[in-house]
Amino acid sequence: MKYSTKVGNAGEYKTGCLVVTPARARSIFRTTKHRDYVERLTADNAHGKTVVLALPDKIEHVMVVGADEKKQSESDFRKNVGAAARALAQISVPDAVWHLNDIEVTDRDVYWKTRNALSTLSGSLYRFDEHKSRREKVSRPRRVAIHADRRTRTTTLRAIRHAQALDAGLELAKNLGNQPPNICNPGYLARESRKLGRLPKTSVRVLDEKQMQTMGMGAFMSVTRGSENPGKMIVVRYNGGRKGDAPIALIGKGITFDSGGISLKAGAGMDEMKFDMAGAASVLGATRAAIDGQLPLNLLCIVAAAENMPSGKASRPGDIVTTHSGKTVEILNTDAEGRLVLCDAISYAKTLKPSVIIDVATLTGACVVALGSHASALYSNDDALTRSLEESGQYIQDRVWPMPLWDEYQQQLSSPFADMSNIGGREAGSITAACFLSRFAGSVKWAHLDIAGTAYRGGAHKGSTGRPVPLLFQYLIDRL
Ligand code: BES
Ligand code: MN
Ligand code: ZN
Repeated sequence: MKYSTKVGNAGEYKTGCLVVTPARARSIFRTTKHRDYVERLTADNAHGKTVVLALPDKIEHVMVVGADEKKQSESDFRKNVGAAARALAQISVPDAVWHLNDIEVTDRDVYWKTRNALSTLSGSLYRFDEHKSRREKVSRPRRVAIHADRRTRTTTLRAIRHAQALDAGLELAKNLGNQPPNICNPGYLARESRKLGRLPKTSVRVLDEKQMQTMGMGAFMSVTRGSENPGKMIVVRYNGGRKGDAPIALIGKGITFDSGGISLKAGAGMDEMKFDMAGAASVLGATRAAIDGQLPLNLLCIVAAAENMPSGKASRPGDIVTTHSGKTVEILNTDAEGRLVLCDAISYAKTLKPSVIIDVATLTGACVVALGSHASALYSNDDALTRSLEESGQYIQDRVWPMPLWDEYQQQLSSPFADMSNIGGREAGSITAACFLSRFAGSVKWAHLDIAGTAYRGGAHKGSTGRPVPLLFQYLIDRL
């Protein structure tokens, strides 16, 4: 998808589809020779509804979106943008021009309108049909321009640049997530990450199992041990900022398939455990967006990539392992593997002196029970960081909800044999998983996002959502 801006008078340029308010449509029909079309608009225009009129003209279609008011609430705007995005995915046109700046949204500016509209559009135009022997025919728009005038042009251009970068990041994250687990294994994630190393100011280093063993990553190693596909710790660095500035660390859970290991999962829906690398996909996607958007900051992106499989070599319930930090863990359930790969990634990240660590993981089924698919669970040891992530998520509609890390929950992790166990019992599963990770973050500014409910959809629309790439990218932009 190519995003751009368009200046000039509506009705005077050539496009496959002009996306406008009813008021703008009326004025265009009056000034062109299409007065008769004005009547067709008297149909019940409402927020969240679109009417597409085909014209025999330079403008092939006019898509009328929403009701008449120029001033819209944020929620009406979202409804309209959602409807327009869905409709644009349905009509077969090569390009579109969107007159977004005709709308005023209460308390929101030109930049916000373009960012939110295009982020929604990126969501609805995406398809993953790489493995279909016959592809769907509808050709979706490949170029979408936001109409701007002298007043709105500079801001719109900045928004376009960020929207374009986010589009690339979302595409990467979704593609990685949707790939089947026989293709997307730890080696594949490493190869795809290495491709980022060709981009400006970016370098990639991949630690193999031998190196991780030597470095003492016993928790990570206990997870990858059962698989024929060797695990990888992938480190992508983007140095867009000042030399010497501490990087922001993004860490992703990259379990390319989670069978549960010896604590084997039930069969139904197990295919969805290919999405258990969605955290990894999202931090790689956010990194891609930061690089494309040329954000002036330093990033450290770490992916803990492994496959959780049962085998004669797999770890057993009852095994005790020593983590990279030196702390010991009694593995009571091999299906609580995410925290095991992440704890070593977090303590390794700390040796690289980041200013803040944000880890992202499809960590617990309990999180889906608690928050469903609308918000990712947010845990942090820093109130300012919590507020920043809440605000960035609200801004770009990729929301998080704060959860507690109280000492009372920490107690659920005690083990009679090791420093801690890897599960905290039946109650508060998402919280105790986060408590486990918090012990490895220690006093470094840290946040953990449990995205088990938000990263992908099941059912008829099964597929990766790309979340929380929009949130992470917005968080980075908001740091500038
Ligand atoms: N990858 C799963 C969590 C998950 C479950 C994500 C459902 C998305 C949907 C994770 O590795 C896991 O298996 N967690 C266990 C933890 C339990 C053994 C303490 C869970 O949630 O059941
Ligand atoms: Mn698991
Ligand atoms: Zn898992």
